[in-house]
Amino acid sequence: MEYNKLYHSDCRKILKTKILSNSVNLVFADPPYNLSGNNLFLIGNRTGGDFKKVNERWDIMGYDEYFKFTNEWINLCKNVLVDNGAIYISCSFHNLGEIIVNLKQNQFVIKNIITWKKTNSMPSITKRTFTHSTEFIVWAVKGNNWVFNYEEIKNINPERTQEGQKKQMRDVWEIPIVQGKERLKNENNETLHSTQKPEELLKRIIIASSNKNDIVLDPFAGSGTTLIAAKKLNRRWIGIEKEKIYIEAIKKRLIHTLPLK
Ligand SMILES: C[S@@+](CC[C@H](N)C(=O)[O-])C[C@H]1O[C@@H](n2cnc3c(N)ncnc32)[C@H](O)[C@@H]1O
Repeated sequence: MEYNKLYHSDCRKILKTKILSNSVNLVFADPPYNLSGNNLFLIGNRTGGDFKKVNERWDIMGYDEYFKFTNEWINLCKNVLVDNGAIYISCSFHNLGEIIVNLKQNQFVIKNIITWKKTNSMPSITKRTFTHSTEFIVWAVKGNNWVFNYEEIKNINPERTQEGQKKQMRDVWEIPIVQGKERLKNENNETLHSTQKPEELLKRIIIASSNKNDIVLDPFAGSGTTLIAAKKLNRRWIGIEKEKIYIEAIKKRLIHTLPLK
């Protein structure tokens, strides 16, 4: 099986035909949240410039179709994971329910639901709800001997005790939305990918649940954040993405990324 490999395709096809059963140590999946369909704009927002609600053609499905799709790719990921492998799935309140139910239907055991608290979240545009400032990452495992690199995670935890000692990492992670140099832009200087995840998020996941040389797979690679973090951390990686524009961006991003010593 090939690794350090990017596939331009529907992830279901690649998971069925190119990835061996019991071969992948860790899956990070940031699937469509199925929340697109309406434009919503906030021009001149003070925290991060103009804001556009995620509204992408890959993110619109009917409810039954979305449920079936979710079940299908989670099942295929289960098959390629090694016996003690782990899956982390990013979601919001829009699809948290579907993710949990489908993980359970596929006999995964949920270990944590990590709350990503966005320290620079966008204000509520409609002013009819509390400001949305969180997403969730559901961590689930396949067997009983899952990897959890407790000490390494403690070492990279930015939080300290009052005495300045290292601290266990909690399941609430305060990380800003990608901004500044990390945010990929297209030739018109616009945001390249509407849901680019922070590298810090992937760094924590990969360090916690894999070891050097392990295989990390992302079935919805997007702008390639998982692959970049895996390469830096000396893991082998496999990425799948169905939109060509993002494939090109990932390739460029990978060229400029070196494994950390
Ligand atoms: C939420 S984004 C992932 C963003 C990514 N985590 C990042 O940091 O850039 C989901 C991605 O999945 C892709 N996608 C949607 N359906 C897919 C499918 N069936 N197979 C492969 N990729 C798919 C979309 O084109 C989109 O880039």
